Amino acid sequence: FIKSTETSGYNFPPGPRPLPIIGNLNILNMTMPQETLHKLSEKYGNVYTFHMGPIKHLVLTGYEAVKEALINQADVFGDRGETVWHNKTSSGDGIIFGRGESWKTMRRFTLSTLRDFGMGKRSVESRITEECQKLIEVFKSHKGQPFDPKIIINSAVSNVICSIVFGDRFDYEDPQFLYLQIILNENIQLVTSPQMQLYNIYPFMALFLPVEKQATKNIIDYRKFFKSVYHKRKDIVDSNDLRSLVDTFISRQKEEEVKNSTTYFNERNMIVVSSNLFAAGTETTSTTLRWALLLMMKYPEVQEKVHREIDNVIGKERCPQFEDRKNMPYTDAVLHEIQRFSNVVPMNLLHQTAADTTFRGYRIPKGTPVIPLLTSVLYDKTQWATPHQFNPSHFLDTQGRFVKRDAFLPFSAGRRACLGENLAKMELFLFFTMLMQKFVFRPRSGVTLDQLDLSPTPGVTSAPKPYDLCAVIQ
Ligand code: HEM
Repeated sequence: FIKSTETSGYNFPPGPRPLPIIGNLNILNMTMPQETLHKLSEKYGNVYTFHMGPIKHLVLTGYEAVKEALINQADVFGDRGETVWHNKTSSGDGIIFGRGESWKTMRRFTLSTLRDFGMGKRSVESRITEECQKLIEVFKSHKGQPFDPKIIINSAVSNVICSIVFGDRFDYEDPQFLYLQIILNENIQLVTSPQMQLYNIYPFMALFLPVEKQATKNIIDYRKFFKSVYHKRKDIVDSNDLRSLVDTFISRQKEEEVKNSTTYFNERNMIVVSSNLFAAGTETTSTTLRWALLLMMKYPEVQEKVHREIDNVIGKERCPQFEDRKNMPYTDAVLHEIQRFSNVVPMNLLHQTAADTTFRGYRIPKGTPVIPLLTSVLYDKTQWATPHQFNPSHFLDTQGRFVKRDAFLPFSAGRRACLGENLAKMELFLFFTMLMQKFVFRPRSGVTLDQLDLSPTPGVTSAPKPYDLCAVIQ
C-alpha cells in the first residue's frame, strides 16, 4: 500500500505498491482486468492509482467518481487515452481514436448524419425493420430446432451499419461480408489480449508478440475494403440523391475542396470513420441482443410479461415502431436492465486528462491515462438494489411506470460518450420487440434453467458464452 505519490508538484491518489518495471501487473487478472480493478476499490477507495508497467493510471470507480470526472470536468477528462498500437494504426484520425479538431469535426459530422438528415429518403428506422424481417426469416427456417444465433445476429446488426454507411446491405452468405466479420471479431479479441497489453507497455517486445503483427495485418485488410467502397462512390455521388454516410461525406468533401480550405474531409478520415462505425456499431449491439435472448430463456416469467405487453400495445400483426416504446414501460425497463446487467463494455475505453487538474484533492498532470470503470457504475451497490441480479424493477416504480436512472451509463458519459447511443437504443428496441412478437425463446430440450450460464467471456466486450436457443413461433 503506497501513500499518495508525489512527483514534481503532482500527487496521485494511493494505490497498490508497484514493483520495478512491471508495476502492478503481477496482481492484474489479464483476461478480466475489470474484476481486479473493481475489487481494488474496496481497499483503496473510488479513486486510486494503478501502475500498468511503469505507467500510472487513474482508476475511477462508482457512479459518483465517474460522473464527477466525465460530466463535471468534461473537458479535462474527455480526451481519448493513447496506446502505442492505436497511435500506430489510427494516428489520431477517425472518431474512436481521433484527436483534436479532426476528431471534433468527424464526430459532429457523423452525429448529424446519423440523425437522419442528409441520408435521403430512407429512414434509419426503416433500415432496421427491413433487416430484422430478414433475421426473422432465418430464425423461422430453424423450425423451432436449437441453433446458435451468434453469427446471424452479428450479420443482421452489421447490415444496419452497412446500410447507413454504404447505402447497401450484404447477403448473409456473401464471402466478403463474412470475411469482414471474421477479422473484426478476431481483432476485438487480439486488441485486448494480454499480449497486446504487453506490447502497449513494452513496444520493444514486438518481435516476441505475434498478436501485434496479426492485428495490424487485419486492420490493413479491413481498411482496403472501406477504401474500395469510397473509390467506387467518389465519382458518381449525386448531391441531390445522397444514400449513405459515405455519399454525404463525399459531397461535403467536394464542397470543402471548392473553398480550397485545408479540410478534415479527406480520404484517410473517410476510411477510418467508416471502419470505426462498422466496428463500434456491430459487436456491442449484437452482443447485447445475444444477452437479451439468453436472459429471456433464463427468466421465462420476464419473457412472458414482455409478450403480454407486446400483445396489448402492438398486437400480433402490426410491425413494432420506435414510437411504441413510450407505451411499453415494462419492455423498456427490461431492455435497460439487459444493458445494465450485461455490462458489455466493462472497462470502458481509455480516457486521458487534457490538462493538469485537481480531482478530489489530488493534483493530476495532463496526459494521465484514466480508466472510468463502467462495470463499477453498472454494479455500484450504492445505486442498485440488487446489483448482481437481473432485476427489471431497477427501472420501474411501484405503479409499473418506467424510471430513468442516472447510474445507467452503459454508453459512458461526457464528451467521448458513445456516439451511436440513439441508434443502438433504436436497434435494441426494434430487434428485441420484433423477435419477441414472433417467437417464444426456450433452451434446447434437456437443458434446465440452472444450466444456462450467465458468466461472461473475457474481452473488450463482455459476451455471453456460446449457447443454443429454440425460436418457437407464437
Ligand atoms: C464509444 C458503448 C453502440 C459508435 C463508445 C464507448 C462506449 C460505448 C462505452 C466509449 C465511451 C467513452 O470513451 O467514454 C456502446 C454500447 C453500444 C454501442 C454499449 C450498444 C449497445 C454503438 C453504435 C455505434 C457506436 C451502434 C455506431 C454508430 C461509437 C463510437 C465511439 C463509441 C464512434 C467513439 C466515440 C468517441 O471517441 O468520440 N461506445 N456503443 N456505438 N461508440 Fe458505442
